[in-house]
Amino acid sequence: MPNSEAAEPLVELRDVRKSFGDHVVLDEIDLAIDAGEAVVVAGVSGSGKSTMLRCINGLEEVDSGEVLFAGERVDPRSKSIGRLRADIGMVFQQFNLFPHMTVLENIMLAPVKVRGVEPAAARSRAQELLETVGIPEKADAAPADLSGGQQQRVAIARALAMDPKLMLFDEPTSALDPEMIREVLDVMRDLARGGMTMVVVTHEMGFAREVCDRIVFIDGGQIVEQGPPDEFFAAAKSPRAREFVDKIIHH
Ligand SMILES: Nc1ncnc2c1ncn2[C@@H]1O[C@H](COP(=O)(O)OP(=O)(O)OP(=O)(O)O)[C@@H](O)[C@H]1O
Ligand SMILES: [Mg+2]
Repeated sequence: MPNSEAAEPLVELRDVRKSFGDHVVLDEIDLAIDAGEAVVVAGVSGSGKSTMLRCINGLEEVDSGEVLFAGERVDPRSKSIGRLRADIGMVFQQFNLFPHMTVLENIMLAPVKVRGVEPAAARSRAQELLETVGIPEKADAAPADLSGGQQQRVAIARALAMDPKLMLFDEPTSALDPEMIREVLDVMRDLARGGMTMVVVTHEMGFAREVCDRIVFIDGGQIVEQGPPDEFFAAAKSPRAREFVDKIIHH
């Protein structure tokens, strides 16, 4: 029997495998994420974190196994992919704002173009979202006139404007100067506390400890260990995870 709807995870990866040439990047990944969960994905460089995120929203096609989002198969070749992706917000290390548009126009664009929202409604929603991310006064600014931290907060507002069911973050603070990291993490923390389902690839282990429900540690394309942050930091079971934690703590 299939799960009842309430018990169904929002995201599910079942025996997902992905290679580039003969390099196995994801190897038998099984992962289920419930609605409302905030999950941090950790692991060393090259372990497959970004590839896993990209498989979740169908930017990357899996070789075998399957990815489900809200019970539907995520398949980059299928007709449903555009509709599924519209419900998944993604925030990258690089903000990728449209440089020739104002901040407000950046945030309004997808709701108007993709969802067919009336421009006036999209505009007032965009203004609200700028309040949420703490920079209401920047509505008419050009992206180039904002700090990195402000640009990243606009990128988050832009993703939220689509009313996503899931937010994916791929090292959202890695390109930021240290003094701007906090303001972006604070926005993400508030989102998580507000019940947004989030998968966050980050090296910010303070954020992981404080905000996330679960840490998924991947190594060599496999989920080596997962659990609540307290357990992970205090008593990681696998040697690779312990090594990772030691490096971070003694960094
Ligand atoms: N399009 C691609 N073609 C070939 N190899 C790729 C491609 N994308 C990723 N890889 C390789 O797959 C492996 C995993 O990459 P991925 O970007 O998922 O790692 P990551 O854990 O996100 O690393 P980082 O912490 O450096 O961002 C790496 O060895 C990478 O070089
Ligand atoms: Mg990466």
